[in-house]
This record gives sequence, C-alpha cells and structure tokens, in this order.
Amino acid sequence: MPPLSSLRFAVGCALFLLLFSACDGPPPDPVDEAVDRRAADAVRLADERFDPAAFEALDPLSSQTVQQRGRTVYEVSCAKCHGAEGHGDGGFVFQGDTLRPRSFNDPDWEEVRNPMELRRMIYVGTAEGMPHWGIRGMRVRDVDAVASYVEEELIGR
Ligand code: HEC
Repeated sequence: MPPLSSLRFAVGCALFLLLFSACDGPPPDPVDEAVDRRAADAVRLADERFDPAAFEALDPLSSQTVQQRGRTVYEVSCAKCHGAEGHGDGGFVFQGDTLRPRSFNDPDWEEVRNPMELRRMIYVGTAEGMPHWGIRGMRVRDVDAVASYVEEELIGR
C-alpha cells in the first residue's frame, strides 16, 4: 500500500472506533439527570440569595448561646455526613455512594478559615451532596451559629 492510502486507512479506522465507542455504553439515566439539574438550580438560586449583610446585621448574642445552638445544629444537621469531629466520616450514603466530605481539620483548606466564605459555603451547598441550607429553611442565625461551632470546635482539631 502506498503511504498516503495507508494513512487514510488509519484515519478511517480511528474515526470508526471513535464513533463506535461514542455509541457504546448505556444511555444516561433520566432520574440521575433530573437530580443533577435540580442540584445545579438549587446552587444557583442559593448563591443569588446569599447576602453577607444579613449575617452582619444579626443581633449579637452571648458567645455561649451561639455555641450551644451551633452544637445542636451541627449534631442534628451536619454530623451524619461530616462526622462528630468533622473529619468527613459520618458515613451517610447518597446516590449509591458513601459521602466523604473534606475534613474541617485539613490544614490546606483555606476557604473554611475565611468566616464569610464558610457561611456562604454552608448557605449555598454544592451539587455533590452538600445540602443547600440557605434555601432549605435554615435561618441565617443558625447558619451563623453552626459556622461558629465549626470554627471554634472543629477547625484545627
Ligand atoms: C447529606 C450529607 C451532608 C450534610 C447533612 C451536610 N453536609 Fe456539608 N458537605 C457534604 C459533602 C458531600 C460535601 C462535599 C461537597 C463537594 O465536594 O462538593 C460537603 C461540603 C461542605 C462544606 C464545603 C462546601 C464547599 O463549597 O466546598 C462545608 C463548609 C460544609 N459541608 C458544612 C456543613 C455544615 C455546617 C452542615 C450542617 C449544617 C453540613 N455541611 C451538612 C455533605 C453534607
């Protein structure tokens, strides 16, 4: 075979394999797609609603009251996924996988040490299993209290 036609042959084979493999595999599950779409919409909506001024405008409470409330919120709403000590080992299963959120203790996790960024992350959630607390009815006061608890009791422990 002259070189040019063998090149054409090789390109032809490659294209055929590419098309063939693109058609391979099961079709996407419509339920998974709907769940992903909802999570993406929720993140977008929560991100639009997040307002740092609402946190700055909270009436000051004693730090003891905030810590107690934060502990309760953490134990009830967070520990099942993040673990009692915040190491990401709560063991919650979601969409067939055991969730393993990052440890609050991770020294390389810079955002978690930024107070308003921590509150934003809790309020907004993610599309990978972290609930969107701010639009799920958790009050700004409680997002703030649980963030304080994470800061005082879990980060760096
Ligand atoms: C249903 C399980 C679940 C619950 C309940 C949960 N989380 Fe999460 N959280 C996760 C997962 C999974 C991630 C990692 C998400 C990712 O990688 O996108 C995460 C991530 C986070 C993050 C980082 C988010 C980001 O944008 O990177 C913070 C902060 C956080 N969680 C705090 C909390 C707090 C505080 C609570 C309780 C009010 C809580 N989480 C409740 C599963 C959960």
